[in-house]
Amino acid sequence: MCGIVGYIGRQDAAPVVLEGLTRLEHRGYDSAGVAVLGGRGIRVAKRAGRVRQLGDALPKRFTGTTGIGHTRWATHGPATDRNAHPHVDESGRVAVVHNGIIDNSAALRAELTDAGVALASDTDTEVLAHLVARSDADTLEGKVRDALRVVVGTYGLAVVHADFPDRIVVARNGSPLVVGVGDKEMYVASDLAAIVRHTTTVAMLDDGEMATVTAAGFTTMRHSDLSSTGKTASQVDIDAAAYDAGEHESYMRKEILEQPTTAQAVLRGRLDERFGTAHLGGLDMDARDLRAVRRVKILGCGSAYYVGQMGAALIEELARIPADAEAASEFRYRDPVIEPDTLYVAVSQSGETIDTLLAVQEVRRKGGRCVGLVNVVGSAIARECDGGIYLHAGPEVAVASTKALTNMFLGFALLALQLGRVRDLSIADGKRLVAGLERLPGQIEEVLAGEDGLVDVARSLAEARSLFFIGRVRGFPVAREGAQKFKEISYRHAEAYQTSELKHGPLALIDPDVPTVALVPRDELTESNIGALHEIDARQGPLVVITHPEVDLGEIGAHRIDVPRNEPELDPILLTIPLQLLAYHAARHLGHDIDKPRNLAKSVTVE
Ligand code: F6R
Repeated sequence: MCGIVGYIGRQDAAPVVLEGLTRLEHRGYDSAGVAVLGGRGIRVAKRAGRVRQLGDALPKRFTGTTGIGHTRWATHGPATDRNAHPHVDESGRVAVVHNGIIDNSAALRAELTDAGVALASDTDTEVLAHLVARSDADTLEGKVRDALRVVVGTYGLAVVHADFPDRIVVARNGSPLVVGVGDKEMYVASDLAAIVRHTTTVAMLDDGEMATVTAAGFTTMRHSDLSSTGKTASQVDIDAAAYDAGEHESYMRKEILEQPTTAQAVLRGRLDERFGTAHLGGLDMDARDLRAVRRVKILGCGSAYYVGQMGAALIEELARIPADAEAASEFRYRDPVIEPDTLYVAVSQSGETIDTLLAVQEVRRKGGRCVGLVNVVGSAIARECDGGIYLHAGPEVAVASTKALTNMFLGFALLALQLGRVRDLSIADGKRLVAGLERLPGQIEEVLAGEDGLVDVARSLAEARSLFFIGRVRGFPVAREGAQKFKEISYRHAEAYQTSELKHGPLALIDPDVPTVALVPRDELTESNIGALHEIDARQGPLVVITHPEVDLGEIGAHRIDVPRNEPELDPILLTIPLQLLAYHAARHLGHDIDKPRNLAKSVTVE
């Protein structure tokens, strides 16, 4: 998704802004641009393509100590030079970068055209530059306020104006913005990743908030009436090195390999061996509140939705209360009935996914209680929820989610354990699961140690144009996640099915060119799963079986990948790890840009 970086201070702004933009590249974008404000007013350079190409093509003397930059992910109008941000007004004295969507841009564009303004792009953003320029307020803050008064939509935006060269004005409504404090220099960004090398003293803007940023500091205010919100900056506990791939050839590989450590981080201090339960202080729910929960509804998008399905199964098994997961992107549109005794759980790595955020708002607007399982501390979803569980996976940079997803599963396991133990889950079962959770990080490490054995299998899967991923009950969301990961980065058609549904349709597609990746744990469904494998084998369908060492596949011709057994309820996450490696090595074999898959964005902040 789009990214914003701004700088004001003593240095030349363009290199700082461009460097910040490269830090946001993984979020997905198709064009980039930068505006600098110097002695000769505003100069803009922008183009479709990569930030590096933009940097190589900067005009001579592109200097100024104030600058704003942007990476654009096309929504309104194709990815062309003229649609790239920053956008300027007709006089070239105002420049704007914007994340989000202006919903009434068509009407505003028509009004501006009627008023004789010549629009220079197809974008919704451009209207902002003209609206700011046309305001007769005598401060830049007033001009931005006037523009935002007529705008309907979501935005994180940064504005510079040649008549107010000492400042950048930023505003937020539904799209993140952070202000970073340096020594006589200041930064703005849509993501901490862009500025964390310069400063970890930051202020996150809230929706409805605006900030004036000068080289000497910043002040915050409501953009409706410019009344002060008095926000101050605070220190964030983030290691800048966590944003570097280090010796790894991609962030995805780094993040896959980090899982034994990051899995420990989400469990740390939360397991109670004595009572076989979990402590989740951030939930802000006592035993009475937890007992009052009659149903759990999990809301997330993409992989977060699939892990939500794994979480729902865990909760239903351990706490014996009905639980299900729903795509947050659909939830709001069916005018859902919000029940007072249902616990809604929003799950999100970024904490900024707009569909999930809007689903949380729908729940809360109707009086429901929504807690969050969120990785990014202080993110919009985390703040919107009534409480929650931070996932402590550290920054996840690769678009394809791996370590955050694992920690989401573990977060659900902790929640299920706590919900179970205030009900009928026995202390013996509680202790069994606590011990299982404690074993998991080491077992994840064991699976990762088998990576070399997966490379050739992944390569052979990469050659197929279409694949199936199959699993049953606990294994089905694992299959969905496996197919998702595979298609995201290999661009192969990968479809997940319940193993039990194969002969109700998709078996017709099985032939020697269509491989199936099957999840066959040692559990009460093993025999039935093996029956399905025979049916695939009989039709010469190539098989990769992810299973436990105890499972005997007999004569079935399959490549098997063994994972260690844990408690059956916790097996799904160990079955998921090889699927990450298969997707990774398939994409690597195909030569794809693993961290920046085509058409995808790390954090989907537009509907
Ligand atoms: C898959 C993936 C996406 C995200 C989804 C939700 O690998 O990364 O499907 O899971 O866009 O993102 P978050 O978790 O940030 O809400």
